[in-house]
Amino acid sequence: MSQNIESLLIETRLFEPAPAFSAAAHIKSRAEYDRVRSQALADPEGFWAEAARELEWSRPWDAVLEWNPPFAKWFVGATTNLSANCLDRHLGGPRATKPAIIWEGEPGETRTLTYEDLHREVCRFAGALRGLGVGLGDRVALYMPMVPELPIAMLACARIGATHSVVFGGFSAEALRERCNDAGAKVVVTADGGYRRGSVLALKEIVDEAVVHCPSVERVVVLRRAGNQVEWNSPRDVWWHEAVDASQPVTEAVAVDSEHPLFILYTSGTTGKPKGVVHTTGGYMVHAYLTSKWVFDLKDDDVYWCTADCGWVTGHSYLVYGPLANGATSVMYEGVPNHPAPDRLWSIIAKYAVTILYTAPTAIRSFMRWGDEHPRRHDLTSLRLLGTVGEPINPEAWMWYRDVIGAGRCPIVDTWWQTETGGIMITPLPGAVATKPGSCTLPFPGMDIDVVDAEGRSCAADQGGFLVIRKPWPGMLRTIYGDPARYADTYWGRYGDMYFAGDGARRDADGYFWVMGRIDDVMNVSGHRIGTMEVESALVSHPAVTEAAVVGRPDSLKGEAIAAFVTLGPGHSPTKELEAELRNHVAKEIGAFAKPDDIRFTQSLPKTRSGKIMRRLLRDVAAGRESAGDTTTLEDVSVLARLRDGEE
Ligand code: PRX
Repeated sequence: MSQNIESLLIETRLFEPAPAFSAAAHIKSRAEYDRVRSQALADPEGFWAEAARELEWSRPWDAVLEWNPPFAKWFVGATTNLSANCLDRHLGGPRATKPAIIWEGEPGETRTLTYEDLHREVCRFAGALRGLGVGLGDRVALYMPMVPELPIAMLACARIGATHSVVFGGFSAEALRERCNDAGAKVVVTADGGYRRGSVLALKEIVDEAVVHCPSVERVVVLRRAGNQVEWNSPRDVWWHEAVDASQPVTEAVAVDSEHPLFILYTSGTTGKPKGVVHTTGGYMVHAYLTSKWVFDLKDDDVYWCTADCGWVTGHSYLVYGPLANGATSVMYEGVPNHPAPDRLWSIIAKYAVTILYTAPTAIRSFMRWGDEHPRRHDLTSLRLLGTVGEPINPEAWMWYRDVIGAGRCPIVDTWWQTETGGIMITPLPGAVATKPGSCTLPFPGMDIDVVDAEGRSCAADQGGFLVIRKPWPGMLRTIYGDPARYADTYWGRYGDMYFAGDGARRDADGYFWVMGRIDDVMNVSGHRIGTMEVESALVSHPAVTEAAVVGRPDSLKGEAIAAFVTLGPGHSPTKELEAELRNHVAKEIGAFAKPDDIRFTQSLPKTRSGKIMRRLLRDVAAGRESAGDTTTLEDVSVLARLRDGEE
C-alpha cells in the first residue's frame, strides 16, 4: 500500500467523436459535457433531482440526499416502483407495442416481448409469487438460464417489493446454498434446465442439492425450459406455469420507499465469504436510467444488446433496469458466443439489426483469436456504438473492436464501474468525449472521482494511486447484507470520508483515467471477480490439502488466470490425478469458472516471520518474473528458490 503504483502503459492515440454522431447525441460536445459536469459537481443533488424528475414517483422526496457517512439515503421520503417505471410508464404511448426484449435461445428459437407483453407476464408472475406467500421485503433467489423469465422474475419481485438475489447459473450447489442462507431466501426460482454449449445444464438438480440445507427456503418454482427430467419434491416444488395459472395478476405495482432493498447481489471480497451487496430502489433507478440514456445514447429506434448474464451486475443495470426504464429494445441471448460456430454473436447482430453492443474485453480477445473471418461474414452496418465493461481493455483489443466490429465508424465507450457502484461511474459520453484506447476517460457527470496516494492526497498527473469516490452517488451500495460493519470497513475504512474501490489507477495530463486493476486479493478472471480466499477455502476443504495460496497471473485471454500453490498432508502425493481432482473440487465448491488454471504442489509456502503468506512473491513466481521487491522479511528464503525451480 505504501509503494507507489507504477504504470507503464503509454498510449497517445486519440479518437474524436464523428460530427454526425455528436449532432444527434444526447450530450453533443465536449463543451456541453464540461458544462454539465461542472454544474453537477457544484450541485450534485440538483443534478440528480433533475434526472429523477424524468421518472415516475408515487410520492415526491423530502430531501434528495441524507448522508450519515458511510450510510446514504437518496430521494428520502419518496415512494416509487421500478417495475412500473420500466413497464407501466411506457404503456400509454407507442412504446406499448414496441419490443422490450428480443430473445434468442441457444438452439436458435426466438421470442419477442413487447412492452405490453412483458408487462402482462410480469404482472402474472408477481401474482404467482404473492400466491406463494412472497411479500414486501422477502428475499427471492433466482437461479435461472438466460431466458425472458429471468428478467420477468426480477421485475415481478420489484413489482411486489420483494428483494431478488440473482445467482449466476454457473455457480455450484454449494455456492447457491451459501447465498440462499445468507439472504434467508424464502423462494428459489429456477428452471428444469438451460442450454449451454449445445447441452442442457440441469439447474433444478443443482437447486435440489442446494436447498436441502436451506431452512429458509419454503418453495421452489420451476420453469419448464429444456424439457429434461426433474425430480419432484411435493409440496415444495411448483411449476412456474401452474403457479401463474393459480393466481391473480398484480396489476397495481406496490409503491415502495425509495430506500427499499431492490436486490442483493453477491460478489467476491478479500475473505472467503462472498459479500451480499445491497442496492435499493430510487437512487439505483435514477443512476441506471440516466447512465443508460447518456452512455449508450439510447434513442427510440435503437436495438441495444448487452451480452452480460443477468447473474452479474451488468445484466441487472444494463440488460434489464436501465434499458427498460428508457423504453429501449433489449436483446437477450441464452448461450455461449461460439455455439454452434464462432460467428454466433455476429449472426445475431445482423439478424436483429443491433445498433449498440455492450460486451466484455475478455470476449473481445476471444473473438480476435477466433479470426476476423467470422465477423466479416455478416452485415454489421447496423452498429453505431460499442461498449466494454468488466476489466481493463488492452489497446490492441480496443483497436480490433473499433476496426473490425465498428468498421472505424462506431465510438467505443469503455465503462468503469463495479457491483458496488450499481451503475457506470467513469466513461466517455460518446458524442462528447474523445477516446483513447485503454482509457475509460472521464467521470460521468455527478461523480466525484479521484486517484489518491496512501495518505489520501490527490496524485499528480500520471502518478499511479488508488481509485476513490469522494462523494455519495445515487446507485451506490447501501450496505453488505447483514453486515454493515463489513460494509463500513471494506469501502470506507481506509480513508474515512472516501469510497475505496480497490482498484489501482492513474490520471493522465488530460484528466483521463487509466484503471490498472485490483490491488487487493481479488482476481479479475474473464471480467468476473473471484476472491483468492474463496478459491483457497475451497482447496483446503479437500482432505488432501493442508495449505493453499492462490494468486492471479497475467493471461492474454482471460485478463487474469488463477494460479494455486498447494501443500499436501501426510500420505498424499502430487499426481496429475490429484491435480484434476482439486480442480473439480473447486468447481464443485464455487463453480467451473473458478477452477485454477495452474496447480503447483509445494512443500512450503513463502511466509513472513509472523506467518503471513507473501502473495507478492507468489504472484511473481506464477507470472514467471524475478521478484524485484524486498524479500528480507521472508522466513525461509530457500522456499522461493525451490518454487522458482519448479520443486516437485
Ligand atoms: O477492477 C475493476 C474491473 O472490475 C471490477 C468490478 O468488478 P464487478 O463488480 O464484477 O463488476 C464488473 C462489471 C461492472 C472493478 O473494480 N473493471 C470493471 N470495469 C472496468 C474495470 N477495469 C478497467 N476498466 C473497466 N472499464
